[in-house]
Amino acid sequence: KGKSRSVHVCESCGYSDGQWWGTCKQCGEVGTMKRFTTESAADRKVSGIQVSENAVRTWLPREAGAPPPVKLTDVYGRIDELNWRIPLPGLFGAEVERVLGGGLVPGSLVLVGGDPGVGKSTLLLQIAELIVEGNRTDVPGRVIYVSGEESVEQIANRSDRLSIETEELFLYSSTDIEDILEQAIRLSPRALVIDSIQTVYLNGVTGTAGGDTQVKECTSALLRFAKKTNIPVLLIGHVTKTGDIAGPRVLEHIVDVVLYMEGEKCSAHRLLRSVKNRFGSTDELGVFKMSQSGLQGVSNPSEMFLSEQHSDSDYLAGLAVAVIMDGSRAFLIEIQALFLSIVVLFCVCFLEFPIPNGIAFIAEVGLGGELRVVSQLEKRVNTVAKLGYKKCIIPKSAEKSFPEPQPHGMEILGCQNLKEMINIVF
Ligand code: TYD
Ligand code: MG
Repeated sequence: KGKSRSVHVCESCGYSDGQWWGTCKQCGEVGTMKRFTTESAADRKVSGIQVSENAVRTWLPREAGAPPPVKLTDVYGRIDELNWRIPLPGLFGAEVERVLGGGLVPGSLVLVGGDPGVGKSTLLLQIAELIVEGNRTDVPGRVIYVSGEESVEQIANRSDRLSIETEELFLYSSTDIEDILEQAIRLSPRALVIDSIQTVYLNGVTGTAGGDTQVKECTSALLRFAKKTNIPVLLIGHVTKTGDIAGPRVLEHIVDVVLYMEGEKCSAHRLLRSVKNRFGSTDELGVFKMSQSGLQGVSNPSEMFLSEQHSDSDYLAGLAVAVIMDGSRAFLIEIQALFLSIVVLFCVCFLEFPIPNGIAFIAEVGLGGELRVVSQLEKRVNTVAKLGYKKCIIPKSAEKSFPEPQPHGMEILGCQNLKEMINIVF
């Protein structure tokens, strides 16, 4: 049975090429290259063109029709075109652009890694929407979001939560790379998202999906696809317990850009960090907040690390602001010394009075300088009493639970706030 040789012809200008291009090399129209079949397999052998039986080979560089070496000076002429980036509008997009070092570079392969559940699928779905919007002409750009983990209904459910309404976002549930790339060719999108690299496989490659060989080969195939078609591919990768995305960082060598998404389970904040970037700096950091309706860009991250209002009180409240650099961004971070004994040490430094012997401090300090009750206060008081302390400072509100006299004759002193405490002690 004879297979046919493909030739790709531009519907707009008639330019033909052995390989498919997302953008016609002659007239520059997007998505106009259509495939036509010409010869049979027998003909091909006669004409001496090497063709593989495996369709995977379509993405191997030795496929006939690859452009020959070009003059550097000719390439200079196209450099503006090469430097073009797909903009990602909006505050959310600005955070992503910051990490990418600008918009999304056409033909780039971007890997987004992170722990399961950190929000990678959400991030990429939101980026997909922005890519649709981020066009330089009025032509809407399609984006295909492929998931090997979720059904299209599940993705739609999430999209609904994110209020995504664009008609140019295409969902596809598949794990077969050849099938995915074939669909991508058919729709000639502005970008392709694959969720995740651990779920896709390449026919003819040994090993199961998620295994080192499959992950590596699939990524290589996606890279060739991106380079040949100029369609950027955004790839999600789960980080394993050892901190790698399958295998000892093999993927990071293949792809153009590696971003990591980080965040704590107990906090809504998410950081997007660039650890490799062929098109920009690796010092960049994007800050997001996970909300009920997806991720939001945080343009002034210091605000989230500072408590809303600094106390009006003019005395020491166990709180200081430090400026910390992460990437190119400066963060103002509040350092709180809310443990009473530490605050007392600060007082000693400032007042230059030593702490009298035999006095213990049991309380937490609020941001306003007020003393707060700590857990198991009675047990703590009894312990310091047994150890022979003469005085014990506790919050005023807890004083009544320690009626005189105290065991071992220790004096209990209730204080409302730091000011009172300082007056009593020094
Ligand atoms: P997800 O993007 O599925 O993570 P990953 O792809 O990295 O495994 O999102 C994980 C969490 O985000 C999930 O626990 C639910 C939460 N979430 C929100 O809080 N708000 C939202 O709008 C969405 C879509 C998810
Ligand atoms: Mg996911």
